[in-house]
Amino acid sequence: MSNDTTNPGGLSPASRLATVPLSGIRKVFDRVKELEAEGKDVIHWQIGRPDFDTPAHIKQAAADALQRGEVHYAPNLGIPALRKAIGDRTTIDTGIKVDGMKQASVMAGANEGIMVSMMAFIQPGDEVLVGDPNWHHYKTCVTLAGGTPIEVPTREEDGFVMVPEVVERLITPKTKMLCITSPGNPTGCVQSKESLEALAKLAIKHNLLVMSDEIYARIYHGKGTIAPSIYSIPGMAERTIIINGFSKTYAMDGWRLGWTVASEELTKSILKVRQYTTVCVNTFIQHGAAVALNADQQCVDDMVSEFSKRRKVMLEGLRAIPGVSIVEPEGAFYLFPNIKSFGKTSAEVADYLLNEHHIAAVAGSVFGAAGEGYLRLAYSCSLEECKRGIERLGKALGQLGKK
Ligand SMILES: Cc1ncc(COP(=O)(O)O)c(C=O)c1O
Repeated sequence: MSNDTTNPGGLSPASRLATVPLSGIRKVFDRVKELEAEGKDVIHWQIGRPDFDTPAHIKQAAADALQRGEVHYAPNLGIPALRKAIGDRTTIDTGIKVDGMKQASVMAGANEGIMVSMMAFIQPGDEVLVGDPNWHHYKTCVTLAGGTPIEVPTREEDGFVMVPEVVERLITPKTKMLCITSPGNPTGCVQSKESLEALAKLAIKHNLLVMSDEIYARIYHGKGTIAPSIYSIPGMAERTIIINGFSKTYAMDGWRLGWTVASEELTKSILKVRQYTTVCVNTFIQHGAAVALNADQQCVDDMVSEFSKRRKVMLEGLRAIPGVSIVEPEGAFYLFPNIKSFGKTSAEVADYLLNEHHIAAVAGSVFGAAGEGYLRLAYSCSLEECKRGIERLGKALGQLGKK
């Protein structure tokens, strides 16, 4: 018998990483940096975060907390003031009474909320329905938790929202969870209340958990101030995990702060995973975040109205470019124009725009197979840059059409 205790696979990565890609968006960021180092004037449509500063009253509250010595571990699920604020805000936003002390979990960004929830509820053999195109984190977090992501294709003709009949066809006895991102990334499209009602019926009929990513809900250009939530539909509060955060609504992406809201029962499982990930979120920033939720929301309305101006300019500009079609999305700060008529893949068009015209956009294919033929444009840059960008894009696509 050999005494060799050397493990031949000692330095190799875990097999669960085999299908985990490196982010396609990062590649664009790196190339933008190179171009800027060469002194090129780049149009920044690649960035999925607001370009505004965090409102002053929120920064002040965090700074005050730091000064008064809020520098020690917080409870695993967050400081009481913030959990309460999350509960109160969710009650206002959804019309469903939420007790933040029992149902809210503060996370290091919505990202952590997604990963922790997947670890809490998904296991090998489980299938999880995710939209295509979609923000790639969903698929990856499902895979890391050992589950199988099943993509639900969406189409421009349907406004890039999940069609309940398509979802139903993909449900099997293994389906454990349905993930809804509304407003969506990369499309900005919003599930209507009626479509959410139909999805809720399916979730109840097939006993599914629902993960409802509402991180862009307040960046809403439709009627009212917030996109509809599946959580508001009777019977859904007990089976829905809301994912939300501060990154987009309050321009706090660098703070790394988000949350989940779920039933008391589901939150107990979330807590178990939470205790073994980052344990708790930075304490003093949580005090700033509580103020963000409790204070007057004028700062959010101001930001959204600025986004609306850019959206109008971008939509009008895109509609005027020959060969481009565009769905008018009701949320977020993304547009997802169709560039199929140029006869190239979306990655080829994105590379061409970046390298030859210094327009940074993300190829739709980065977000899934159904994103092929589209570009994600994030209008998270000034109105002036949007105007300049549209003019440059028109010329660039005009030249591409003649190539
Ligand atoms: C749909 C969606 N959910 C969650 C996140 C992550 O947000 P956070 O910065 O809170 O981790 C993003 C970020 O781009 C997103 O687009």
